[in-house]
Amino acid sequence: MENRQTRPIGIFDSGVGGLTVMRAIIERMPGEDLIYLGDTARVPYGNRGAETVRCYAVNAAALLERHQIKALVVACNTASAYGLAALRDKLSIPVFGVISPVARRAAILSESGSIAVLGTRGTIRSRAYQRALLELRPELDVHPVACPLLVPLAEEGWLDGTVTQQVLEHYLADLVPTEVDTLILGCTHYPILRDAIAGVTERLLTGPTTLLDSARATAEAVAQKLGDAGLLKETDAEGTRQFLLTDLPEGFVETAERFFGRPLQQECEHVDIVDTTGE
Ligand code: DGL
Repeated sequence: MENRQTRPIGIFDSGVGGLTVMRAIIERMPGEDLIYLGDTARVPYGNRGAETVRCYAVNAAALLERHQIKALVVACNTASAYGLAALRDKLSIPVFGVISPVARRAAILSESGSIAVLGTRGTIRSRAYQRALLELRPELDVHPVACPLLVPLAEEGWLDGTVTQQVLEHYLADLVPTEVDTLILGCTHYPILRDAIAGVTERLLTGPTTLLDSARATAEAVAQKLGDAGLLKETDAEGTRQFLLTDLPEGFVETAERFFGRPLQQECEHVDIVDTTGE
């Protein structure tokens, strides 16, 4: 392909969570062609070890590279935490993670200097958010909270109600005595739980709290960088969308549409992911 501008942007996540990022990218850059890869055969990534997640991320990127993508968006916080450096090393195209863009916004917005980060066990264990935030503002007080039950609740569509609220109250209880005024939804599954999180936060915490998700901040970062590099498609026509999945579990489309916020329209294509990390 001659013209790099007209190539698609590749987006990948362990499963459906990254669709919240794809949705934000479509809102910000409707003309871009997008290929989404959900590694549904190996989801969840959030409870796995660092090396496993890194290998999965490298495999996913290799598959998307075969589709001539012009940029890669790692639409998973866990894979961004563990795989970004390896991917930037291996690929010659721009690679975006979901952590730095939202960390930057949080560091700018927080007035109290006290920021909470909700994420998977893996993301929290990696300390990637703490590193990103403290590099930007060393005096920040960062409160990491691992929330392993939120991914299954989001996937089951338990977006509010007693159980979800009790789980959130349990996770957010440690934040009660803090000055937290900014809360990062550090997992791409969490934006669909935003209303429930906002409700519990409002009830538990003393002051007003701003909720930031990595989807919108990442879409903005991608638009700016690709724009600056002259890599955006110059067209008003709606871009094409392709969905590749490493497994097609029953009920997938219904769950995916909840995260995507609109009908998928295109068929989901089954792909086999090849482990290339041992080469
Ligand atoms: N969406 C993934 C993230 O942002 C979490 C889902 C999983 O555990 O695979 O970290």
